[in-house]
Amino acid sequence: MAQIRPRIAVPRTVLMCRPDHFTVSYRINPWMRPQDPVDTARAVRQWEELYRTYLRLGFDVQLIDPVPGLPDMVYAANGGQVVDGVAHGARFRHGERAAEGPLYMEWFRRHGYDVREPVATNEGEGDFLLVGDTVFAGSGFRSDPASHAEAARVFGREVVSLGLVDPRFYHLDTAFAVLSDGEGEDEVAYYPEAFDEPSRALLASRFPDAILVGEDDAVVFGLNCFSDGHHVVLAAQATGFAAQLAERGFAPIGVDLSELLRGGGGVKCCTLELRS
Ligand code: ARG
Repeated sequence: MAQIRPRIAVPRTVLMCRPDHFTVSYRINPWMRPQDPVDTARAVRQWEELYRTYLRLGFDVQLIDPVPGLPDMVYAANGGQVVDGVAHGARFRHGERAAEGPLYMEWFRRHGYDVREPVATNEGEGDFLLVGDTVFAGSGFRSDPASHAEAARVFGREVVSLGLVDPRFYHLDTAFAVLSDGEGEDEVAYYPEAFDEPSRALLASRFPDAILVGEDDAVVFGLNCFSDGHHVVLAAQATGFAAQLAERGFAPIGVDLSELLRGGGGVKCCTLELRS
């Protein structure tokens, strides 16, 4: 049983995009059902609860303007990855989202980030998560393995590749969560079945104390959460994972983003961390 450490909240700076134009008009992941109606007003209300939660936690929340015709732009995590003031732009797998890449890069440029244009396909923090000094990178559905080497060059950091195998968990941030990453005390949670065998073995050896999350919590996108080191904002429906977090001394805060789950995204998908 892992030891409970004192939890220190470090308020984050994040980028979000209001889902004013959110809908499901195409299908690029198994959650999306264009034939089912989407309640955009409800999506906006749910998103606003997440936004207000972050403000209450003392976060600096930056906003990018939503653009009509780009219904997935609300999933800001896919807009790039920002570490040490360097913004590695995104290059989307599907044409439906291609226009988002340059829009996010333009926002980064206007806000003083050192933007690096992407060469290989990569979907930003959807597939690239910083844990301590190391970037963990997913592939299998969206980001090209070549983008992992590219990110290593851009950030000058170790990048560890993980293979995703379950189409429901098509981005790394749907199956893997960073809970705290201070001073060699990296703590993560993940759903093992979303990964191929070599990746499971690698995760087990790098993170022997990781919280292993069950399918019930994974399918409500519980792992698609965002932590400040103490508070973990997560899907309200992920009650089992919330209990696991509380046992470890984290403070889980549930929010209901069920309307945004119809696009195949949750808390983390709506959140891009800006690290200056
Ligand atoms: N509909 C979007 C897509 O399939 C959802 C993106 C979710 N974002 C995430 N970071 N997992 O691309």
